[in-house]
Amino acid sequence: MFRYSKKVMKHFLNPKNVGEIKNADGVGKVGNPVCGDVMYIYIKVGKRKKKGKGEEYIKDIKFKTLGCAAAIATSSMITELAKNKTLEEAKKITRNDVASALGSLPPIKMHCSNLAAEALHKAIENYKKRKSD
Ligand code: FES
Repeated sequence: MFRYSKKVMKHFLNPKNVGEIKNADGVGKVGNPVCGDVMYIYIKVGKRKKKGKGEEYIKDIKFKTLGCAAAIATSSMITELAKNKTLEEAKKITRNDVASALGSLPPIKMHCSNLAAEALHKAIENYKKRKSD
């Protein structure tokens, strides 16, 4: 039997940024065929100036997850990690970043944090694709 860290429990019981963004700029959906869990990440992209140059950043982010406690906690944590980051910075967030921000996950639950990172990356790709169409 494994135990979740206090931070995992906190994000599971009181998740941040739950919901859907109507007219989101990018949506990422991932599913895990093994456990059947499904996760959606919605992003709204803003533009701001930094050192005289324009940059795109994650202005708002929300998630909807049908899944285990770790899937919900990692979704909540990734929205907190990604908010206000530039798209380039957000693309570099890995499952290990999510797990360590939560104070570790049981090894059997590491795949759940992979879902969160993948959903975020897909939402960014989806935004870029929509922009180039
Ligand atoms: Fe499926 Fe956690 S068991 S995402």
